Amino acid sequence: MTAATKPAPDSSQAAAWNGPVGTHWATHHDRYDAMLSGVNDALFEAAAISARDRVLDIGCGAGATTRIAARLAAHGHAVGVDISAPLLDRARANTASDGITNAAYERGDAQIHPFPAAGYDIAISRGGVMFFADHAAAFTNIARALRPGGRLAFVCPQPADRESEESRTLGLFAELLAKLLAQDDGLDGNPANVSPETASPQTASPEATSEAAAARTAMASLSDPARIHKVLGAFEDVRVSPVPVETVWGETPADAVDFLLSRTPDRTLDERKRATLEEVFRPYATERGVRMRAGVWLVTAVRPAA
Ligand SMILES: C[S@@+](CC[C@H](N)C(=O)[O-])C[C@H]1O[C@@H](n2cnc3c(N)ncnc32)[C@H](O)[C@@H]1O
Repeated sequence: MTAATKPAPDSSQAAAWNGPVGTHWATHHDRYDAMLSGVNDALFEAAAISARDRVLDIGCGAGATTRIAARLAAHGHAVGVDISAPLLDRARANTASDGITNAAYERGDAQIHPFPAAGYDIAISRGGVMFFADHAAAFTNIARALRPGGRLAFVCPQPADRESEESRTLGLFAELLAKLLAQDDGLDGNPANVSPETASPQTASPEATSEAAAARTAMASLSDPARIHKVLGAFEDVRVSPVPVETVWGETPADAVDFLLSRTPDRTLDERKRATLEEVFRPYATERGVRMRAGVWLVTAVRPAA
């Protein structure tokens, strides 16, 4: 790709992931990792990383999957690329404290990052490929980074569905929270303002709120398998398979409410209102935390051999 054809960096996503959204993910990296770890088995089984592989982790965030990849590629290495400075700081710190020496991180926009041509055997991503302004350009850039015959494996969300436990419950939570906040001080009670997916502080600036909304919209950008096939034109043998997962939102209903309210840090709710919110999660409380069924797509593809 020449400089003239490179897409312009997507500034709203860069702002969100370097602003309140990214800071929240970096601060609560353990919770987000617990939430998403249910997809790891499917992702790494599909990735089938070998000991000498060179692995690229796109949108690596705090590096949980980069570290797993580095352990699997014991005689190779893993490189995590991400647009978010706060998340990369966290990834480097976690990697050092785990004593992993064959993982490194680069800050960059995967749409245009100057990856070494054919520098990797496999590219993976756990939910880090939905946030591009130009998905086709991004995946073409990622294909270039793979050797001929190199493989791609990623997971991304299926469409939000009122039949899914997770979508339905988080929707109920957002509606109820909006109502409870509206009772306090005349807010409009609009659940969009407190959506749990990538919420920004209720009293955040209009810029921060619209950045978080953009991240929320982007989260669903690859939920249509036809679109996934379309944007992976630089690959062959593209397969999109549904994977049922359980996402974990907290150790207890109270813990889940604390976590979700941490995304609206300027707001306080009295104990009675918190208890009301906890009831939303009560049906999903187990000895292994608050777990809800959801679905992701597992996508695999191959860079053509020649
Ligand atoms: C939903 S988080 C997933 C993080 C990580 N993969 C995990 O499983 O914890 C999405 C990640 O994609 C990153 N991201 C968003 N746009 C990006 C881009 N254009 N290039 C590289 N990373 C990007 C964000 O900074 C964020 O870390």
